[in-house]
Amino acid sequence: MDQGKTPRPGFFRCLQNVVGCAIVLGLFAVCSLQIAGAQSSPVHIRFDADSRVFRIDAANTTYVLGINENQQVQTLYWGRQLAEGDHFSAAKAMPEAASFDLSVNTTPQEFVGWGGGLYVEPDLKITFPNGNRDLVLKYLSHKIEGDQLSITMKDISLDVYVTLQYKADGETGILRRSAEIENRTDAPFTIEQVFAGTWNLPRGTDYRLRYLTGRWAGENTVQEQPVHPGKTVLESRRGTTGAQNNPWFAIDRIGNNDAEDGNVWFGALGWSGSWKITVEQDQLQQVRVSGGPNSFDFDYRLQKGEHFQTPYFYGGYSSDGIGGASRLLHRFEIDSLVPHAPHPALRPVLYNSWEATGFDVNEAGQLALAEKAASIGVERFVMDDGWFGQRKDDRAGLGDWYVNPQKFPHGLKPLIDKVHSLGMDFGLWVEPEMVNPDSDLYRKHPDWVLNFPDRPRTEGRHQLVLNLARPDVRAYVFQFLDKLLNENDIAFFKWDYNRNWSEPGWPAVASEDEKKVYVDFTRNYYSILEELREKHPKVEIESCSGGGSRVDLGVLRYVDEFWTSDNTDAFDRLLIQNGFTYAYSPGVMMAWVTDSPTWVNNRTLSLPYRFLSSMQGSLGIGANLNKWTTEDFATAKQMIAQYKAIRETVQRGSLYRLITPEHDSEQSVTESVARDGHQAVVFAFLHSSMEGYPYPRLYLRGLDAHARYRITAMDGKPANGTPAEASGAYWMEHGLDVQLRGDFQAAAFTLERQ
Ligand code: GLA
Repeated sequence: MDQGKTPRPGFFRCLQNVVGCAIVLGLFAVCSLQIAGAQSSPVHIRFDADSRVFRIDAANTTYVLGINENQQVQTLYWGRQLAEGDHFSAAKAMPEAASFDLSVNTTPQEFVGWGGGLYVEPDLKITFPNGNRDLVLKYLSHKIEGDQLSITMKDISLDVYVTLQYKADGETGILRRSAEIENRTDAPFTIEQVFAGTWNLPRGTDYRLRYLTGRWAGENTVQEQPVHPGKTVLESRRGTTGAQNNPWFAIDRIGNNDAEDGNVWFGALGWSGSWKITVEQDQLQQVRVSGGPNSFDFDYRLQKGEHFQTPYFYGGYSSDGIGGASRLLHRFEIDSLVPHAPHPALRPVLYNSWEATGFDVNEAGQLALAEKAASIGVERFVMDDGWFGQRKDDRAGLGDWYVNPQKFPHGLKPLIDKVHSLGMDFGLWVEPEMVNPDSDLYRKHPDWVLNFPDRPRTEGRHQLVLNLARPDVRAYVFQFLDKLLNENDIAFFKWDYNRNWSEPGWPAVASEDEKKVYVDFTRNYYSILEELREKHPKVEIESCSGGGSRVDLGVLRYVDEFWTSDNTDAFDRLLIQNGFTYAYSPGVMMAWVTDSPTWVNNRTLSLPYRFLSSMQGSLGIGANLNKWTTEDFATAKQMIAQYKAIRETVQRGSLYRLITPEHDSEQSVTESVARDGHQAVVFAFLHSSMEGYPYPRLYLRGLDAHARYRITAMDGKPANGTPAEASGAYWMEHGLDVQLRGDFQAAAFTLERQ
């Protein structure tokens, strides 16, 4: 929406900081104020007191909700931005469709309590001490402050207050939603399910759902299915995010969409604990998506006077297909979410020792690798697992975060100093929330792990999960990380987490409070990250969980990057990285070049192929440099230099998935266009040539049709006859032919605007 425009008098009347009962809203109807910050922010939030309709305009999106005659907060519209003068009449609850389908189920509400005959997924379900479980929320008041809207609701008789909070992002139109539950009754009550809210899609019956599934070493498979009557549940019951489902969804219209065209509604939950997103088509074929912490094995006793703030649920709309939806999320993550947004540092090229040395780290070995890494242009040297406690393998040592004196007799200082003298900064692997039973920590504090008394403690990778919800465990974890940073010049932590929960008991608290662990653990995890960053503002952190098992928008507020997968096979990675970019920016997607054949598939791939696969994200090297030939070093040096010349385009630019490797495609092609348009980068991969067919012509995107671009091969060749320079229109409409034949071939090109 044009920022400068004043709303038409008599239509949307802006209410600034107005809090009042529904009954007295009429008194404020004559108020017509400019929204605070409207000059500097492209977000407009307005309220029409006559119709009781709220309208949020941000970027290319309009979101409209109203208060209906039953005082429910009802969704009226979510989609492409509407015209300034488009008017919404007052919200009207759906009539009773049948005695089996009461109005409360079919009225598309923003947030609904379980009560009054609700059968669809509730946003809030409470049990009160007297056994009452009925909760009916009605609009009470609202407040508009710049780019934020909050609407307070209250139960019809009990002093349960719920404030729905909306924050709109002016760059992308992405809305951040959450809810705050407040117990103003005179007794505790138990929350059994609590979501951030419900997204209601426009009426339609032809919707398709996309979501991500996976497993260890096989993350981010894109799934597609029609939205059917009934419910699809995406979830983790694992205590953390999990790779099995990722908390992201996108819904478009079948038959009316391709990758770069058509309407897409998408959302992502900002939560790294057990979570749930439900996609539900109701009896009238309306589609609603709700999400928040998982209600399985969960409840939360809220004491009198306490508040419960839900995680954020982000949602957005794109008219440019699933590709456009991804680009909005990427932009939002980099410009609004990550630490140091909107200007986070570009990811340095890092070296990581894990695949080279395993647990067998020591001063001399790491120094030798560091020298070699520096010689090819690496900027950050990361020592992985094995440096602490009595860590010889994965059976011992987790929890004992002192430097192993046999491996590092002089501490970490000589290594770190040497790494610095080679022009790199230093990073270290940690796994703070875990403990091996064979550790001093566990021998001293066996009660610190998640457990049920007198029940087995199931190990995974010979380790147990510390109960981070406990204040003493939280303090211990913060203190050792803080100490490591105080005593050593560490620029980066790779924060790992290598198993999921079992026996999630918390015997130290009252049994009514034990199930809080799912929320309190995650809150403490965030608060440690936050406090560490406050105290050590220069430190960077990677979220790793045996690869990509803790990738979500909740932790992305506190970390700079994700470890995408333990699977570093560069061909497998095309698929894993492709899925990752549906929801997450290549600027936070770490991708290492490792040795060939890979441990995963015993597949042999050329070094340039492996580099090009990794250069589509944030480049790292994880190979055993001690085994490299002179030629390998020369290739690596050249490709790392090339990467540095394109990384801003890859990490910050607009990504177009020209050919996805999904559905067993023989090809995979991405294109990234720099934000200022000066450069585009194309990566093309071929699995196997078949029957002599040429490689498909590539129709580039996102270029300026009238500008001229000069093509340069980073690796591989364009087809004979390809002009050295042509217009954006040529590259987009005529296309680019690439010479790629054989098995596991790759090529990459840059196009520089002249
Ligand atoms: C996990 C990580 C790996 C490596 C090992 C170390 O599996 O994903 O990259 O750090 O732990 O034990």
